[in-house]
Amino acid sequence: MSEHKETFYVTSPIFYPNGELHIGHAYTMTVCDLLTRYHKQVGNQTYFLTGADENSTKIVKAAAEQGVEVHEYLRNISNNFKQLYADMHVEYNQFIQTTDKERHWPGALLMWKKLQESGDIYKNAYEGLYCVNCEAFYTEKDLIDGKCPYHGTEPTKIKEENYFFKLSKYTAPIKAKIESGELQILPIARKNEILALLERGLEDVSFSRPIKNVPHGIPVPGDDEQAIYVWCDALVNYISALGYGRTDDSLFKTFWPANAHVIGKDILRFHAAIWPGMLLSAGLPLPKTILVHGLIMSGGKKMSKSIGNVILPYDIINEYGHEAMKYFFARHISIFDDGEMTMEIFKDAYNSQLANGIGNLTNRILKMAISNEVQFDSSSWNHTSTVQYKEWQVAFESFDINKAADVVWKKIGEMDAQIQSSEPFKLVKTDPEAAKAIIAELVQDLSLVAELATPILPDTSAKIKECINERKMPEQPLFLRKD
Ligand code: ME8
Ligand code: MG
Repeated sequence: MSEHKETFYVTSPIFYPNGELHIGHAYTMTVCDLLTRYHKQVGNQTYFLTGADENSTKIVKAAAEQGVEVHEYLRNISNNFKQLYADMHVEYNQFIQTTDKERHWPGALLMWKKLQESGDIYKNAYEGLYCVNCEAFYTEKDLIDGKCPYHGTEPTKIKEENYFFKLSKYTAPIKAKIESGELQILPIARKNEILALLERGLEDVSFSRPIKNVPHGIPVPGDDEQAIYVWCDALVNYISALGYGRTDDSLFKTFWPANAHVIGKDILRFHAAIWPGMLLSAGLPLPKTILVHGLIMSGGKKMSKSIGNVILPYDIINEYGHEAMKYFFARHISIFDDGEMTMEIFKDAYNSQLANGIGNLTNRILKMAISNEVQFDSSSWNHTSTVQYKEWQVAFESFDINKAADVVWKKIGEMDAQIQSSEPFKLVKTDPEAAKAIIAELVQDLSLVAELATPILPDTSAKIKECINERKMPEQPLFLRKD
């Protein structure tokens, strides 16, 4: 435990409640959860925010398709989100919904007022190409063959009166913050992508829509005909949820600026250009890091229902459990790049590194320790001074979840090799003292493994520690082999 406690505030995107959450959403949530669990474990005060992005036209459409009233639709979907997170054992602190007039709207309205006071809001007739799936306007040059670069669908031509935000004014200050590292964008490739965009110069962006298109949206202060446009509304969740714009803003004072906004690369420019622009205009500090993970692909392709390569979180949880899913995400999906996931790859990783690997190793060591009555004094162990602990800490501090997981499984591999070469189970017959010393050291190392695996495998780690303390075998195999 570090003596000097720090705060750690992490956010996930607020997902659109327009369908079932898939493995990509589960991945983002897991990344946030792993970071939070690590920071808790080292003694920091953590806050993990998630939620739902509800004020969009596609929600209205989705509700109509199901023939239910919008608020009922939203209630059902957010309950599904929460159920999934409970089943994933993702420990968030708050689930913010942008239709929440008490918790979210005051912050969105205050933000609007601040932007206005800075002279950064103006009204203009607007003609643009709108992608409903992105809820964003594009210019011709953004499109690929006239289609949305993310969805491959043709955007709709929209002509309307909108309020605009003078984002262009903030090109240089945003660039300076990113270049100086004050606003860190990870990985470098994503930072460079944004710097290139800034190099071309940012354009002003539409910040409102006619309210008839988003009937349950937040009305623009002083203009009932317009609703605050989705991105201006949605991004504010990161501070409204903490009380920005409300009487009790103690969470905001404690936790803002965020340590990390965790996002997929599909929403990078909103987070790394529009959001900093808004914060600068409102005179608020910028988040410290935007952590941009890649997309999970299956069979080399983006998951899609029509290709039939979609993996749903419950496909994994029901068969392998939530910890196995967390492990796979941590170790096998590259945090800084696109990742590949199929049920076959998953099963192989599960069998070789969880059923074998940590499961098998735990059994072997505990069995040797118990049957040979090996003595050990766990109060003398100081895991924090080990090389592995330090590597693990550095990895987590730099958001390199893959490396943090590698430290643990590399140690597991070394312990397997050590048992193989020193054969304490044979040595015990000829030199029991030497064998017992080796086994005692293995027990200590196993305890270190359990400590370092805690963010990824919280239940299993606790079980291993309990077995060590009580000198007993696990009642069931930690991870049953799957055929
Ligand atoms: O964009 N692999 O919501 P959304 C990994 N409401 N992650 C993936 C993924 C994949 N294949 N597909 C989606 C929105 N994601 C807005 C956000 S925030 C103020 C507003 C994850 O429901 C990834 O985190 O479309 C991505 O950024 C997010 O889902 C998009 O979720
Ligand atoms: Mg999306």
